Amino acid sequence: MIDIDAALASLSLDDKCRLVAGETNWRTKAFPEAGIPQLKMSDGPTGVRGEGHGSAGTPGVAVPAGIALGASWDPDLLADIGGLLGTEAVRKRAHVLLGPTVNLHRTPVGGRTFECYSEDPELSGALAAAYVGAVQKHGVAVTVKHFVCNDTEIDRMTVDVDVDERALRELYLRPFERAVKEGGAWGIMSAYNRLDGDHAAENRRLLTDILRDEWGFDGFVVSDWFGVHEPVGAANAGLSLEMPAPVRVYGQRLADAVERGDVTEETVDGLVSDLLVVMNRTLADERSCDEPEESIDDPVERALTRRAAIAGTVLLRNDHVDALDRPVLPIPLDGLGSVTVIGPNAVIDRSMGGGSASLTPFGHRTLLDALTDRLATRSPSTTVGYEPGVRIDRLTPIVRRNQLRTPDGEPGLRLEYVNSRDWDAPTAIDTTTTSSMLRFFGTTPEEIDALAFGARVSGSFIPEVDGPHVIGVVSTGPVTMTATVEGQHPVVVVDDPDMRIPRTREFFGYGGEESTAVVDAVAGEPIAISVKWATAADNGFAALRIGVRSPDPADLFEQAVVAAQAADVAVVVVGTNDEWETEGFDRETMDLPGRQNELVEAVAAANPNTVVVVNAGSPVTMDWADGGPESASAVVTSFFAGQEQAEAMVDVLLGDADPGGRLPTTYPARLADHPAIDNHTPTYTESGPPSQRYAEGLFIGHRHYERSGISPRFWFGHGLSYGSAEWGSVEVSATEVSVDALEGGITLTVPVTNDSDRDATVVVQGYVAPVAPPVERPDRELKAWAKAVVAPGTSTAVTLDFGTDAFHHWDESTGAWTVAPGEYDLVIAPSADPGVEHDRIRINVT
Ligand code: BGC
Repeated sequence: MIDIDAALASLSLDDKCRLVAGETNWRTKAFPEAGIPQLKMSDGPTGVRGEGHGSAGTPGVAVPAGIALGASWDPDLLADIGGLLGTEAVRKRAHVLLGPTVNLHRTPVGGRTFECYSEDPELSGALAAAYVGAVQKHGVAVTVKHFVCNDTEIDRMTVDVDVDERALRELYLRPFERAVKEGGAWGIMSAYNRLDGDHAAENRRLLTDILRDEWGFDGFVVSDWFGVHEPVGAANAGLSLEMPAPVRVYGQRLADAVERGDVTEETVDGLVSDLLVVMNRTLADERSCDEPEESIDDPVERALTRRAAIAGTVLLRNDHVDALDRPVLPIPLDGLGSVTVIGPNAVIDRSMGGGSASLTPFGHRTLLDALTDRLATRSPSTTVGYEPGVRIDRLTPIVRRNQLRTPDGEPGLRLEYVNSRDWDAPTAIDTTTTSSMLRFFGTTPEEIDALAFGARVSGSFIPEVDGPHVIGVVSTGPVTMTATVEGQHPVVVVDDPDMRIPRTREFFGYGGEESTAVVDAVAGEPIAISVKWATAADNGFAALRIGVRSPDPADLFEQAVVAAQAADVAVVVVGTNDEWETEGFDRETMDLPGRQNELVEAVAAANPNTVVVVNAGSPVTMDWADGGPESASAVVTSFFAGQEQAEAMVDVLLGDADPGGRLPTTYPARLADHPAIDNHTPTYTESGPPSQRYAEGLFIGHRHYERSGISPRFWFGHGLSYGSAEWGSVEVSATEVSVDALEGGITLTVPVTNDSDRDATVVVQGYVAPVAPPVERPDRELKAWAKAVVAPGTSTAVTLDFGTDAFHHWDESTGAWTVAPGEYDLVIAPSADPGVEHDRIRINVT
């Protein structure tokens, strides 16, 4: 244990100011003479990535993305997942896990909607509290992020959020409050954006008044990466640590601010002590981060991530089809002759979202592989076919290893690192890359200077078909590339040594526009490629992406429809990929990319036995899911469900598991219906930062649809089970309670009886609906819920507890939570859809 007082006494002012800034991308600086070790952090939140990036990352467990965990509605499951991630963090020698992400789904198009749990503050808060407590049991700190209102990727570093106090308290702060008060979080990450004019990292009201003084937080606050701008504001606000290196704000600038008297040394001592406290909590002086990261692929952990994926899989529709005389799902194996799998996402592993939440997972299964293998053992006479049907790539596709050859004829490409931005410098490391995408974030082979290096990439691409192939390249730095087919002149794909190509949204805005060139290729005859590339940004972020688009048959779409018609069952996998949905930018539309909507309609029309699997991390437009004549009868989504996504989806499709999820967010019919869309894009003025007004106030998500009478495509809370259950009459512990006695809670008991021959998953949801509130309130707010799996022929009783928090609202006049006496209905329902209420119990709060 570090003796905090002694350590503080032995550090000079300069040392202290240096300690509160990063030494690398993921570590703080050690002061061995003061007994202070390095503190290592890792992303988060859907696995523990460790210090490597991309193909250089140490493989680890990838659990379902936040939205999929949100769809489980199960805090106990989140505790299991948190426990697993705590174990993983210890294996990866990390003391701090950068997560969970608890921003709300303010819009369906946020680039990080997939990473956050829900549109609902209580669901998010309960799940976060369970996750946090479980991670920390392993002596690993969390940083609940991004504090607060980082709900868009548009101008995320500069945007100034303008939100009313009640909405801030009742919605956006609430998951953080629960993670701190109930979960006991040891860390918080400040957001990139501003709130009321000040950057979150320099916002004293957030970091001290609310977080520490009101909520009693006693941990450390880390800036989001590069998200702190000015030492005086940050130190006085209570920002404990600037990340990552190189030091830009704390360090010498902070020491100078102390010398000037703008920050007191006592304040700096407070920041240092925040950091030493977290080091002690995480036993940083006993757990050295210099030990190698460890990868353990444990079958028990795989089973847990699979269970989690199933628990978050939402069956959106499953109609009874007359021609089949049953619902489409699950697919019966009896007499199953053939299945056609359709869609580009069936053959990629799109099980996690892009950006900082991604890692190298154990296993890269595709749905096509998982289904083919399972049917081979379970139903050997069933044939499985595949048709892409459409393409959805925005850029030329990254190339698979088996289509690449090094100059020595091995799979992959030759990669020569040079220790200079001069790409013609002598080779420092001669190696092979198995992917045509290279990404670095401060982490390069040890001998290579992560801030200034270059690379030469060479080898060839082996075409599988004849015809024009489009070769593309996207780079964050200077680049030149040629492609050559033997016997032809080399084709220049790009020649940009001075980085004149305009930057775009690729690679967080560091990437240039894609450059392309066409070569005429013959199947089997190599296209030689030669690339020279160097880094540019001084923050260690660098990437090179090489892609090849092969020609498609003219009837790609029609072939899929014909195959669907001939098969017993068609499984269409639609979705996004990380060119459309990722950290770094918001989507411009909720529509599926490419001709995927048309594809679903054509396949569903060709075969009534069609299942649509939606593989997207946030809502998409699904006009074909409305029950109309050209509708798909069975629609299921597991969002981005982690490393076991494919196996879990096959479990559900074949009926080995019940789809256990309920939507944690409302699916609008059209993006234009959504409450925050009109003011999603910030307002720009000549002076001052872009401003984003949260004009919808308290009415985000389902609350808006109830108030406006607009029907969403699918309501918050919606989800079907293969089994069915009868909900009995609700019993209530009291119908008249004084405000003071509310803390003891009101308990509702709901008997649930399975009346089918399959397991039934139920999520009994309890909404509070104030009858005549003295201030404007949403029609109903989720305050309690219970999930149960009921076996055929059995009954259970679930209980829902409503305490003071279930009735309170934020009183702006007193600046505190308050419960207004009066009547409230407790609504028991399977979703937020006002049309499907089970019961309503009136309570008089006196
Ligand atoms: C993200 C954080 C992440 C950090 C480190 C930032 O861009 O906003 O969520 O933890 O990078 O990767």
